[in-house]
Order: sequence, then structure tokens, then C-alpha cells
Amino acid sequence: MNNYFIRLIKEILSYKRNSSIIIFSILLSSVIAMLGPYLIGIATDSIISLKFTLLIYLGSFYILIYIINYFSENRRTLYMMNTSQMVIKQLRDRAFENLQYVPLKYYSEKNSGKIISRITNDAETLGDFLTFQIPQVVSGIAGIVASLFIMAYLDYRLTIYAVLIIPMLLATIFLMNKKIKFNYISVRQRIAELTGNVSESINGVKAIKSSGTEDVFNESFETVNNNNYNANVRAVRLTSLFSSIVQIIEGFGIMIVLYEGGTQVFSGILSIGILVSFIVYVQGFFNPIVQLSQFYNSYQSSSIAVERIYKIIDEEKDKNNYKYNDIKFNDSLSFNHVKFSYGKTDTIKDISFTVKKGQKVAFIGKTGAGKTTVTNLMLKFYTPNSGNITMDNINVNEINTGNYRKLFGVILQDPFLFEGTILDNIKFTNENITDDYINEKIMNTGLDKILSRLSLYSEVGERGSNLSEGQRQAISILRAVINEPEIIIMDEATSQLDSVNEINIQNAIYKIMENKTVIIIAHHLNTIMNSDYLFYVRNGEIIEEGKPSELIKSQSYFYELYNQNKLVL
Ligand SMILES: Nc1ncnc2c1ncn2[C@@H]1O[C@H](COP(=O)(O)OP(=O)(O)OP(=O)(O)O)[C@@H](O)[C@H]1O
Ligand SMILES: [Mg+2]
Repeated sequence: MNNYFIRLIKEILSYKRNSSIIIFSILLSSVIAMLGPYLIGIATDSIISLKFTLLIYLGSFYILIYIINYFSENRRTLYMMNTSQMVIKQLRDRAFENLQYVPLKYYSEKNSGKIISRITNDAETLGDFLTFQIPQVVSGIAGIVASLFIMAYLDYRLTIYAVLIIPMLLATIFLMNKKIKFNYISVRQRIAELTGNVSESINGVKAIKSSGTEDVFNESFETVNNNNYNANVRAVRLTSLFSSIVQIIEGFGIMIVLYEGGTQVFSGILSIGILVSFIVYVQGFFNPIVQLSQFYNSYQSSSIAVERIYKIIDEEKDKNNYKYNDIKFNDSLSFNHVKFSYGKTDTIKDISFTVKKGQKVAFIGKTGAGKTTVTNLMLKFYTPNSGNITMDNINVNEINTGNYRKLFGVILQDPFLFEGTILDNIKFTNENITDDYINEKIMNTGLDKILSRLSLYSEVGERGSNLSEGQRQAISILRAVINEPEIIIMDEATSQLDSVNEINIQNAIYKIMENKTVIIIAHHLNTIMNSDYLFYVRNGEIIEEGKPSELIKSQSYFYELYNQNKLVL
């Protein structure tokens, strides 16, 4: 059992009242599993010796203990469901909470689909295992152990014959298990492929239709669907083969007990009643042992699930004890020999620059040069591998991240939109802002030409699918300025809008830039020429800097681009 599982069990046991009830019910069931067949045996003997009163007493007692067992099992399932749901809920809560505070680097190393699946599917897998598998198997096995004691007490020789089939059964399970498991994995993979295929064709429906490749997708879906069908048929066959073999072994086991016990009955050593008890005991072995094999599979997937969830919970958070809690931006923001890599290759090689308060600087460079990465570092989304970033000569690592980020208004290349209205999307950084205030901002920036009053209350759809490019950019701009930030970071959209909207957006941007420090990743010549200072980034290095107008005069890289008319970059 891995450590994470032990941790999980401790969490379950911490619900003391529930776990005591569950444990008590398991013990009760195993006592009843032990008593039941014994009572049947005595009843058989009492029939043979014509003791009818005893038979009636035994019968009533038998009914009584099974009624008790029914209620106790019922309670057990209920309490187990409750407890495991509580445990899972708090595991999910803790994992989700921690995810809010882990460094962004965590997300660039992990696949987001996998993180989501850990919190949703893995927790679900665990729920099933805790609620149904564990109590069933534990009480089944406890029942077998208890039965073995009373069997050995009744007739130890016959007990040895009775347990002979247990190793046989275990060997079969072990051998078949591998096959079944392999099949199970293959069914899971096929289903994943199927889902992937469907989701790809739905997400890419436009691309598929416009390239006329519907047939290709249809065919590939058919293949995947066929594979899925075959895998499922194989799985069903294997399962039914398995249950036939188990039934044969069961028959065999009963035969052994009948033969050996029968011989003893004939020689007068054993009562018929005890022989009957033994047969019922042997029959009782099967279900729990077969369940044990399912339990084993389930245990394996659950232990992976547990480990994954705890790993999220244990993931180290961003630090939150800072030397400087509040900060005002008075003078300058600098990168000093900053190096950074997302993974193995260096994305930022050695970058130094200073932005003075009130300055408007532009970063330009080809796609993948590292421009967005510079702003990511500036916003403390990532920490440099070496070198440092300072604000008014204070290392930004020592400044409270939340307060530091409040100084910035960020306009992303591709703004993330949530479900809700356009207004909700603008307000999301600050719920206290009134609609009137936003409307005023819209009028001031001239964005009313893009966002009409009416459209403010319309739903944006999944990820803003029903918005125009211009509307999306407008939302992004408004989001950045409603909190009156000191510094505006803008990752300019690469695409040009139609000329009217482009002018409207540009005007809005110039408007919001007034009296602000601005760091802009520029793609359009207009924006570049309107900046005070220019940094040219190539392969994670600044290879050129200066005033745009001066760079044009000298034989610069920028001049080359400008000349070749390669802007928009
Ligand atoms: N989250 C990430 N994880 C790993 N690598 C990344 C990540 N983001 C960017 N990169 C890599 O870092 C390099 C620089 O990317 P960056 O986004 O800074 O480029 P950019 O200059 O902004 O390009 P563009 O003009 O296309 O936006 C690229 O090679 C990119 O593949
Ligand atoms: Mg970028």
C-alpha cells in the first residue's frame, strides 16, 4: 500500500463516529457469515432427528440475524458513501485551492487536460473505490476468515479439503486478471480516442468544412469506433469466460467437500448437518474472492488517483511572506541580466533594460522571440533563473505579488473571456465598479463605436465565440484600465482589424496611454512610431534599442524591417 493511501485512510478514520459505525457493521457481517451456515447445519440435523420445535427456533433466529445483517449493511453503505463523499469533497477543495496559488511554471510543465482530469475523474474513481469496493471486500474477507475459524472448530480435516479450492481460484484470478486488465486498459484507450476524435471534429468543424475533408474525418471516426467496438466485445468475452471458469471451480470445490464429507458421514464420524454447513461455507467463499480481483484492479487505479490528487495538494505554493507589502511606482522598472527558460532551452538569454515612469516603450521582434515572456516575467508570472527585476531598485520578488500586480493593467494578445455578459467580462477584475463608470470609460475612449450600449448586456458565449475581434480587443482594453493602473502592458494583437475598427481601437489605446507608463509589444508600425523608445528582441536577446525615429536613420535591423515593409511583424 502506498503512503498516499495510508494518508487517505487516516483521513477517513478521522471521521471517528462514521468509521466506528462502519467497522462495527463489518464485524457484525462477518459474525453473521460465520453463523448462518452453521445454523443451517444444525437445522438439517434437527430435521433428521425430527426436532421440530428446535427447527422453528433456529428458523426464527436465522431470519432475525439476516434482518439485522440487512440493516447493518444498509447503514454501512450509507455511512461509507457519506464519509467518502466528504473526504473526496475536501480533497477536491484542497487541490483546487492549492492550484490557485502554485507558480505558473507548474502549468507550463503540466498538460491542463491532465490537471482537470485529476480533480474531476481521479476524485470520482476514488469515490467508487471507497464507497463500494473497500467495504464489500473487507467484509467479505473478514467473513471468510471468521468462517474458517468455526469450520476448523467443527472439523479441521474437512476444512483442509474445503480450502483446497482457494489457491486454485486465486491462481485463475491471477492469470485471468492480467488479460482482463490489459483489455480494460485497451477499452479505456479506445474510449479516449473516440472522445478525442469527436471533440476534434466538433472544435475543428469550420476547418473541416472549409477544406472539404468531411469524408476523411468520417472514415477516421469509423476506424476508431470500430476499434472501440472490438475492444468492448473482447472484454465481454473475457469476462464471461472468467465467470464460467469460476463456476467450474466452485462445482469442483463442492464435489471435493461432498466426497470427503460424505465418506465421513458414511463412517459415522460426521453429521449430515455439518456437511451441509461446509457446503454453504464453501459457496460463501466465492463471491468475496472474485470481488477481490476487481478490487485489485480498482485498487491500482485508485492508488494512482490518490497519489495524483495528493501531489496537487502538496505542490508548493508561491511564497507569500514579502519584505514589501505595499508599493508605489515612483521611478523606474528594470531588468538586470535576466535569464529564463520554460524548460530546457533558454528563452530569455541575458536581458537588461530600464523603463522610466511615464515612458512608452515598444518591444518588437519576430514570433517566438520572447516578447510575451518578457512581460510574463515582469508580471511575476515566472521567476527569472538568474538576474533580477527591480521596481524603484527593489527586487520585485520581495514585493507582495498581489499588490504589485495591481499596478499593472494588462491587455493580452488573446484575452480570455468567461461566460457571462460583456459587462461581466469587463468588470471581472473589480466587481465594485458600476456600470455607469464603465459606460463613461467606453465613451471617453471612443470604444462606444465598437461596443454599442445594447451589446454590453449580451452574452459572450463560450470563450467569446460570438464576439467580433474588435469587440474582444475592446473588452481587453477596458478590463485593463478600469482599475486605473500605473503601468499598462499591452501585447498588441497581431491581426489587423478592418480600417475603421482599427482606427477606433488605436485611438482608444492612445487615449488610455495618456499619462501612463506603457510597455507595448507592438506589431503595427503606427504603434511603434508612436512609442518613445524601442527594443528589438531576437532569440531572447535585445539586439537593438533606441528611439524609433533615430533607428530609422541609422543602418539598423529595425530600419531593414521598416524598409522591406515587413511590418506588421
Ligand atoms: N508557457 C510556455 N511553456 C513553454 N514554452 C513557452 C511557453 N510560452 C512560450 N514558450 C516558448 O518560449 C519562446 C518565446 O515565446 P514568447 O511567447 O515569449 O514569444 P513572442 O515573442 O511573444 O511571440 P509572438 O510574437 O508570436 O507572440 C517560444 O519559443 C515559445 O515556444
Ligand atoms: Mg507573444
